[in-house]
Amino acid sequence: MSEKRLTIDYEEFSSVKEMSAEDQELVAQCLEAQKGSYSPYSHFQVGAALRLANGVIVKGANQENAAYPAGICAERSAMFWAGANYPDVPMLALAIAGADNGVLCESPSSPCGSCRQVMSEYQKKHGVPMQIILVGSKRIRKFKKVDDLLPFIFDSLNV
Ligand code: THU
Repeated sequence: MSEKRLTIDYEEFSSVKEMSAEDQELVAQCLEAQKGSYSPYSHFQVGAALRLANGVIVKGANQENAAYPAGICAERSAMFWAGANYPDVPMLALAIAGADNGVLCESPSSPCGSCRQVMSEYQKKHGVPMQIILVGSKRIRKFKKVDDLLPFIFDSLNV
């Protein structure tokens, strides 16, 4: 037996102004995307903005339903739309922001496990790292690739 340690590197910003121009644009778009949230049950509005390799930015927002499991997270709504409409275009960066009753959360919103699994699948499909930007009003975290949010991923090809 040997003990192993896994470390994750990420960047943390105290203001969006510290970020590159293109990251600032993606953050602005994910905040804008919150307006498309349909969240009458949780009152939690999540916006996502996905930058594609062709320059297009796809927005997504959480969509809820009285039959709870029928709803979908913001991140997956953006990725599935991109996957359906630009199947051959790599997904380069995904920004996510959550708001509680319309107020942007102080801490960065972290994607659920299902969304991480879907991110991982598209990253693998395209063979290009997908950066993840988690936005809060007090701080913003940036990860270089999906693996940093989901190590030891289930991968059907490795079974
Ligand atoms: N939600 C997202 O949109 N993304 C996540 O990664 C986590 C949760 C949504 C689902 C639901 O509409 C609301 O936030 C409360 O859980």
